[in-house]
Amino acid sequence: MVPKNNISINGQRLMGELEQLATYSDAPAPAVTRVLLTKPDIDARQFFEQLCVDAGLEFRSDASGNLFARFAGTHPELPAVATGSHCDAIPHSGRYDGTVGVLGGLEAIRALKESGLRPRRSIELIMFTAEEPTRYGIGCIGSRLLSGVLAADAADQLTDNDGTTFSESRATAGYAGPLTSVPLNDGSYAAFVELHIEQGPLLENDRVAIGVVTNIAAPAALRVTYTGTGGHAGAVLMADRRDALLPASELALEVAAAARETSSDDTVATTGVLDVFPRAINSIPSRTVLEIDIRDVDLEHRDQVLNRVCETAQSIGDRYQQKTSIRTISQDPPASCASEVVTAIEKSCQSVGVTRQRMISRAYHDCLFMALICPSSMIFIPCRDGVSHRPDEYAKPEDIEAGVHVLAHTLNRLAE
Ligand code: HGY
Ligand code: MN
Ligand code: MN
Repeated sequence: MVPKNNISINGQRLMGELEQLATYSDAPAPAVTRVLLTKPDIDARQFFEQLCVDAGLEFRSDASGNLFARFAGTHPELPAVATGSHCDAIPHSGRYDGTVGVLGGLEAIRALKESGLRPRRSIELIMFTAEEPTRYGIGCIGSRLLSGVLAADAADQLTDNDGTTFSESRATAGYAGPLTSVPLNDGSYAAFVELHIEQGPLLENDRVAIGVVTNIAAPAALRVTYTGTGGHAGAVLMADRRDALLPASELALEVAAAARETSSDDTVATTGVLDVFPRAINSIPSRTVLEIDIRDVDLEHRDQVLNRVCETAQSIGDRYQQKTSIRTISQDPPASCASEVVTAIEKSCQSVGVTRQRMISRAYHDCLFMALICPSSMIFIPCRDGVSHRPDEYAKPEDIEAGVHVLAHTLNRLAE
């Protein structure tokens, strides 16, 4: 085992790179907006590629835009150990969600290389395409394709609000080739470890440095559309209206009630998107589209809420005599993390001399899908007040450095 003092993390280099990455954004600082394959995302990809090449790693991309950088081990024929996360960011969010796992993963690999270490297994860093659902309504497109849970043609046909398909946007960005070439064969990786901010308050409240993730919550997403008749806001009397915003408003309240009324505090449900058409003060809403996110670490609870929301959506639409369409966008199982990887992270916390606690992840991550194809777990670091998906998302440099240190030791331990 390499003693802690032989693996030194260059925190200043890493924080400078995180600072630079945050400038690739469609929102004014401190907010970050970096939507899949928009200019900020393309700039971030080019920045990441240059850093990997400068670090002497073998760089490649796949047809979906997943990016890979490999530190060759002494036995490159063995399945590699992988790490990574995402750099896309939802609108008006923060600079640490995902990026700590990508640039922190790079820093961990550089630290191993600079310590003179050559692990037996290669270590591969992955920047996954589209972890966020912003552009195409479904998250983790890159890791879903790698793990084979999203079919190539279904992915290519995903269409954004401007009518651009994923097939078109990835080709424009230079990611050519069939998506059928993306899925990894079983055994491609010996293990996967993702470093990420907790996106919750537990580590900070408990004053613990590292979270070792044992389970990842099961996310599901619905799209509900109500279609009324619209019309002139002054001329159509109340009795003659089919105002599509009314059933939508009732449903949003029902979504929250359904989550609150399960017997579990772990059930959460959110109506994060509500589009009103034609969105004009003097025009009665003719159509509303709701996108609803429902999660729990317990699949039964999650599906109980999902089913109740679907039934309620239909009955509210019927009562308002409006056309109701309900589409399940995604409905994923929770992930259990691999005990051998959890143990490797805990031993690495001991090597580095930091406190740790086991915990669940309420957010989903690419690890949710990597866990389907290889033993996986996650390393969490605290974030201030548990805030994430907001411009004031913040992680302390010393916490980021501790997470990267533990990641470096974990990768080395798994790749030995
Ligand atoms: O929504 C999530 O849990 C992740 O941040 N995309
Ligand atoms: Mn996120
Ligand atoms: Mn994330």
